[in-house]
Amino acid sequence: MTSFWSYWTSIISLGVIFGCVWLLYATRKSQTSDTETEQKMGHSFDGIEEYDNPLPKWWFHMFMATVVFGLAYYFLYPGLGNYKGYLDWTSTGHWEQEIKEANEKYEPIFTALAAKPVEELAKDAEAMKIGQRLFANNCSLCHGSTGRGALGFPNLTDNNWLYGGDAATIKETITHGRTGQMPAKGLNPAMNKADVSNLTHYLLSFSDRTDDIKAAKKGSQMFQTACAACHGADAKGNKAAGAPDLTDNVWLYGSTAAKINQTITFGRAGMMPAQKDMLDENKIHVLTAYVYSLSNK
Ligand code: HEC
Ligand code: HEC
Repeated sequence: MTSFWSYWTSIISLGVIFGCVWLLYATRKSQTSDTETEQKMGHSFDGIEEYDNPLPKWWFHMFMATVVFGLAYYFLYPGLGNYKGYLDWTSTGHWEQEIKEANEKYEPIFTALAAKPVEELAKDAEAMKIGQRLFANNCSLCHGSTGRGALGFPNLTDNNWLYGGDAATIKETITHGRTGQMPAKGLNPAMNKADVSNLTHYLLSFSDRTDDIKAAKKGSQMFQTACAACHGADAKGNKAAGAPDLTDNVWLYGSTAAKINQTITFGRAGMMPAQKDMLDENKIHVLTAYVYSLSNK
């Protein structure tokens, strides 16, 4: 906040408090006791008149107490413009402290869980409840609450893997993240629309979804030069490159001819964010076991 706005808000905040005090004193009757008087305000409505009595003392003191509380609060906590408050309290600091305390509290539990191998941990129902909660907080946004994924976000419950479903690979994926690199038109940026269409027919032919055998044949030839380097000569994919099996009729980006055509024409770049800066090793270990358990029931 610039110093102008800092003064602006501070003056208004303090002005309101002192304004209230002034109002209280200005309207206070000269009497300092609770004694009621016979004096009337001098107006009547429907025969009802009002006595001119002082505020009850307890009321007056309670009001002053709120004023003192307000001023003390402004002194201790950040409330006045750029002033940081005597206690140096910040909401971020408060949050960090809570996280630290929670980590200290739960660390022994996670350390014990991390000592078990993934395959064993995946069978431990209690540990998997913890894993499920971690998954719900950190992963379900993209992979869905049950881990079944969505268009562009892989299903983690089947045995169909882009990168591999063994414990070490899952952990590697979660820790360091992944970026799928499917270049537009593969290794042949010069290919035209007809080539893309032929390739689409070729891929559809694996699930018996095309009648155009000729196009599929042309596509298969193009595939060898433009696509096989990553997806393999038999189109069964390559886990080291994260290139999916194109013959299994499991589709990350949609199974229709239009979607496949779109994938080939424009390329794809799915991003799995690295978790190593957000979650510690022990939590990643438990999550690895949870993901492992989804497809190894
Ligand atoms: C921002 C969205 C997003 C979040 C959050 C996310 N993922 Fe992913 N994840 C992806 C995408 C996209 C891919 C596919 C990457 C690709 O296309 O190469 C992926 C891939 C994976 C894979 C590899 C699947 C395979 O077939 O090899 C695993 C395992 C995985 N995620 C686990 C997790 C876990 C566990 C979490 C929570 C800590 C998580 N993901 C959080 C988007 C996300
Ligand atoms: C440089 C390696 C590379 C080349 C070359 C390549 N691909 Fe890919 N392809 C990938 C990767 C990696 C993915 C996964 C993308 C992702 O995870 O976001 C992919 C995904 C796909 C998909 C989506 C599959 C699905 O499940 O939805 C199709 C279809 C595809 N490629 C077809 C082709 C065709 C056809 C060619 C040749 C023109 C080709 N690819 C060339 C690496 C490659």
